[in-house]
Amino acid sequence: MTVLGIDIGGSGIKGAPVDTQQGALAADRYRIPTPQPSVPKAVAGVVAQIVQHFEWQGPVGCTFPAVIKNGVAFSAANVDKRWIGTNGQQLFQEKTGCPVLLLNDADAAGFAEMEYGAGRGRKGVVIMLTLGTGIGSAIFVDGKLVPNTEFGHMEIRGKDAEDRASDRVRKGEELTWKKWARRVDEFLGRMEALFSPDLFIIGGGVSKKHDKWLPYLNTRAEIVPAQTLNEAGIIGAALAAQQHFEK
Ligand code: BGC
Repeated sequence: MTVLGIDIGGSGIKGAPVDTQQGALAADRYRIPTPQPSVPKAVAGVVAQIVQHFEWQGPVGCTFPAVIKNGVAFSAANVDKRWIGTNGQQLFQEKTGCPVLLLNDADAAGFAEMEYGAGRGRKGVVIMLTLGTGIGSAIFVDGKLVPNTEFGHMEIRGKDAEDRASDRVRKGEELTWKKWARRVDEFLGRMEALFSPDLFIIGGGVSKKHDKWLPYLNTRAEIVPAQTLNEAGIIGAALAAQQHFEK
């Protein structure tokens, strides 16, 4: 089956039809910069543009970088605060005329990795973390997601973890890979103390450059880069929508 996946981020909104059997994009992805300010109406306009670009009429899976419950955003760390309390799912449905499922971006990336990537067939406790503008998290127990975890906002040294160890901070503070990896390692150590995972999967743009930072990490649990790389959000959103609308 082919489902349109859309990944909403702080800097770009990307979409592509996804072949959900293969877990791969069925066409080149289309990207539009995130409108600034990223208010609901403007973002919905971009989502509609992506749907139109692919002349899409079927189900759409869409990620959002916030806690999402029944289509409603409950947080807005790296997007406009006017999102809080907005039913984005309904808004996108009205704008596009397509059935839409809205879900947290890291949960979507986790789905993609558990189905087609590094978490395939893995039982036990798996934690997926996406290191990008923020830090997103998804935790799976025997393949089943506990949705909307927000480990990126765990406090470390008096700060949100994502304000110390995200890729945005690495770039902004011009940290060396080693220095940044030490911060990531501290964060992972805290996660291990609390959840004793069997596997960590690290996604986001940095997953491609894992040779630069993975060797500095000292987790007890196995730790691997994501395999679906930058497309995890798009692929996972499409997969989640397929399962949701099949029911
Ligand atoms: C948000 C999460 C999101 C993560 C990655 C965090 O700031 O609170 O909901 O998953 O960024 O985008």
